[in-house]
Amino acid sequence: MAGGAGGTGGGVNSSSLLWSIVLSAFAAFGGILFGYDTGTIGGIIAMQDWLEKFGKFDTTGQLGWYIPTNDKSLVVSILSAGTFFGALCASPMADFVGRKRGLIASCAVFCLGVGLQLDTHWAVFIIGRVIAGLGVGLVSCLIPMYQSETAPKSIRGMIVGLYQLAITIGALLSAIVLNSTQHRPNHSSWRIPIAVQFVWAAVLAGGMFLLPESPRYLLLKGRQAEARASLGRLMTMDPDSPEVEAEALEINTALVVEQRVSQGGYMACFRNNEDKNGLRTWTGILMQGWQQLTGINFIFYYGTTFFKQAGISNPFIITIIADVVNTVMTIVGVQLIDRVGRRRLLLIGAAGMCVSEFIVAIVGVTAGHPGGIGGTAVNLPAQRVLIAFTCFYIAFFATSWGPVIWVLTGELFPLGVRAKSMSLAVASNWLWNFGIGYATPYLVDPPTTGPNGVNAANLGVKVFFIWGGTCVGCFIFTYFFIPETKGLSLEQIDLLYRESTIINSNQFRQRILDENQTFTKNFQDEKEAVEHGEDIKQSA
Ligand code: BGC
Repeated sequence: MAGGAGGTGGGVNSSSLLWSIVLSAFAAFGGILFGYDTGTIGGIIAMQDWLEKFGKFDTTGQLGWYIPTNDKSLVVSILSAGTFFGALCASPMADFVGRKRGLIASCAVFCLGVGLQLDTHWAVFIIGRVIAGLGVGLVSCLIPMYQSETAPKSIRGMIVGLYQLAITIGALLSAIVLNSTQHRPNHSSWRIPIAVQFVWAAVLAGGMFLLPESPRYLLLKGRQAEARASLGRLMTMDPDSPEVEAEALEINTALVVEQRVSQGGYMACFRNNEDKNGLRTWTGILMQGWQQLTGINFIFYYGTTFFKQAGISNPFIITIIADVVNTVMTIVGVQLIDRVGRRRLLLIGAAGMCVSEFIVAIVGVTAGHPGGIGGTAVNLPAQRVLIAFTCFYIAFFATSWGPVIWVLTGELFPLGVRAKSMSLAVASNWLWNFGIGYATPYLVDPPTTGPNGVNAANLGVKVFFIWGGTCVGCFIFTYFFIPETKGLSLEQIDLLYRESTIINSNQFRQRILDENQTFTKNFQDEKEAVEHGEDIKQSA
């Protein structure tokens, strides 16, 4: 049977397909860790009790308890340092201890970081942020890896898309928990939202404990019998059945071929061999960068202030609106990935975001003055247009670049270098996330004078011209570099990269599906590959 682990989707009866969905979808829960953790810090550092514990008192009486800019920047961005290195460590971990045990270990790392953040010493709190970041970085790479290696191919897009949905639900939950504890008069105001994360980690680790290991990892290690047992569980079939046998052969053949051309550690990820490893790795690294360059985290990190300036006074409602639009539209997006296709959704999403962002920029500059430029009177109808188009922009992101990029991150790379290339791509996400998050206040805010004065570009709403421009870049990048992979097994994607061009990928994909081509069938040197497969089996 040709298909992702779990079957063709067409060949598996519905009850077993349901079981495959449940197994591979559960891991999406890890997205809650990602979304919740990145969503909490902004609210925590605004809490009175936290400021009194970790902040400074302004003796001039103007600011009261406050957190100095450099400490604020440190406590917010240090997580990204942890996530960046966590994503890089995900590769050795995934190939060494496996996808499943790697995820359980990441939860333990994350819990250590969460525990340290309950302390009242600044240094311990910061170290806790770094360690929790390591956990989030590991999880953010291991989840799409595990999911794409275990999901049935016909709904792999939806399954990995659920991970993005969990990210958005995590952010929404953090806004709700923060709002409900913010007025508590003691440390519990910030300790509760931090400690809630133990629950997410426990659910993920507990669930992973019960799930099967990725059969592709087991075959990578030559553990044939365990791989068949795992495939059997995922496909709800006897491990000795012909279907499991055929699936194992398909993965093995692709693996053997890839391993022969992919020797040599990280360098192999960038080698432009028959499998086009270099093209595929760079595509992953760059598409994650372009996702961040859509400007989405400007909304999630700094949107509260932006919307406030646009005439809405309750920041809680604003955060909730953005989070709700993001979550609801991600539900829509997840359904579209396997129907509309990855490439087409990314093109539509980039165009939609680009138009929405230019409208925000033009209306803002001509009529809105949401940046409070010169303190002139505000034009409320224009500002409502701004809010509406910002919501359209979030909606376009949520239906396309949010979920699709994670789906592609799980499926673009050949198995021989998958863990390494994925971790490089995810690390790129966190690097750009950090860079953009750090630079944005300097682009948007007005300059300040005095001893702590900061030189800033004061772009205000004009920053949307930059995000609109980067979305043009997203469109062009997609057109030239993103193939259509809808409905293909991971091994058929290898075939596509070997035998087609990106621009013609949709026609080629259609042909593979119509002719039901498999990697094994197509591999010219099939016999030799199978013999190598036998060597692996015997040495297992
Ligand atoms: C991005 C995050 C972003 C989130 C918003 C994810 O796909 O990688 O940076 O905050 O979507 O939903």
